[in-house]
Amino acid sequence: MGSNQAKTPAVLGGEPEFATPLYYTRARVPDRGVFDSYVDRVFESAWFTNDGELVRELERRLADRLGVGFCCLFANGTAALLAALKCLDLDGQVLTTPFTFAATVHAIAWNGLEPVFCDIDRDTWNLAPDAVQAAATDTTSAIVPVHVFGVPAALANLERIAKRRSLALLYDAAHAFDVRVGEAPIGSFGDLSVFSFHATKLFHTMEGGAVVGSDPALRDELALLRNFGIVNEEEVRGLGINGKMSEVHAATGLALLEATTRDVDRRRRLAAIYEQSLGAIDGIGFQRTADDTAGNGSYLAIRIEPERFGLDRNQLHDALRAENIVSRKYFYPLCSENEAYRHLPSAARENLPIAHAVASEVLCLPLFGDLPADDVERVVAAILAIHRAAPAVRRALEEAAR
Ligand SMILES: Cc1ncc(COP(=O)(O)O)c(C=O)c1O
Repeated sequence: MGSNQAKTPAVLGGEPEFATPLYYTRARVPDRGVFDSYVDRVFESAWFTNDGELVRELERRLADRLGVGFCCLFANGTAALLAALKCLDLDGQVLTTPFTFAATVHAIAWNGLEPVFCDIDRDTWNLAPDAVQAAATDTTSAIVPVHVFGVPAALANLERIAKRRSLALLYDAAHAFDVRVGEAPIGSFGDLSVFSFHATKLFHTMEGGAVVGSDPALRDELALLRNFGIVNEEEVRGLGINGKMSEVHAATGLALLEATTRDVDRRRRLAAIYEQSLGAIDGIGFQRTADDTAGNGSYLAIRIEPERFGLDRNQLHDALRAENIVSRKYFYPLCSENEAYRHLPSAARENLPIAHAVASEVLCLPLFGDLPADDVERVVAAILAIHRAAPAVRRALEEAAR
């Protein structure tokens, strides 16, 4: 940090910390030679989609890496969620978190099910088992927890509730690639888990996703559902969709598997630098993870306590933007605030006090495999400078908003 400590924040007229925008993430670009060698195979075979060789190879390698019985690839994580819910044959209500990306809840509603929002835990920011327990009724058929920012949901407690009430348990593991809890891979919990391989994710296929699990009957059903429900030339069964991953998308994944291992390592180290430096600043907190969890460093989320930090989360976001540091207010607004869901009784603010508090205080900072450690130090220095000048920064932002 050194000389940067005395820096004048850009909102107060100082030089922006970065000359060009530093985004909160940057997609990992596959090695061109390796990618091309896979794409050559695709071009030679002229087999671009429909259960191609590369999709099958990536499914095998991911099942192995993720420590699961099967991996069924999809065109994106949302299609994977849609099919996973469909094959579990649910009805009525599904308990889920409002502190997630829109797709989690949309997939429930697109299946004709009613999402029921439950509050989250103030430390892990994941579904609170007590709230899940209290919301379960005779019309509940499933729980869809999310491992938010890669931090595992309350696995044992949720499993207990699901077992006791015979509810399906589908984890949205979009953020949790490569996460382990003790010896157990994150995808080994629940009936099924869904990953997103969108370009912004730790491991990606540009667009893509997967459902993983252990029951071969569910695997067969998922394979049908992602291909319109086509059983054979003369039979189409059920409400299938086109959820197939293409061969070129699978080529991206195959070309990125090794780089992802290096990225996890590097991201964890960068996250540790952030946590150590920012942890010393009054009013900045972090998401709590259990000690036995091996995280993946996929996000760097901080929580701002306005009274202690001197500014609220939105003010810090805007002050950082002036420094050319682009942070993200994940997941604000909550999904329960979406006009599609806000009429639901469970979407009432009084039902979700902790989720509302967390959503108004969390900010995701730049973190990606190629991010230089020096840039992490500069982001930290900018935050420290903004914190030290908090009253003047607040006045300047309020003035600018008038
Ligand atoms: C928690 C969560 N669930 C589902 C999705 C949907 O995945 P996709 O973008 O691959 O459709 C995402 C992100 O994109 C996500 O963050």
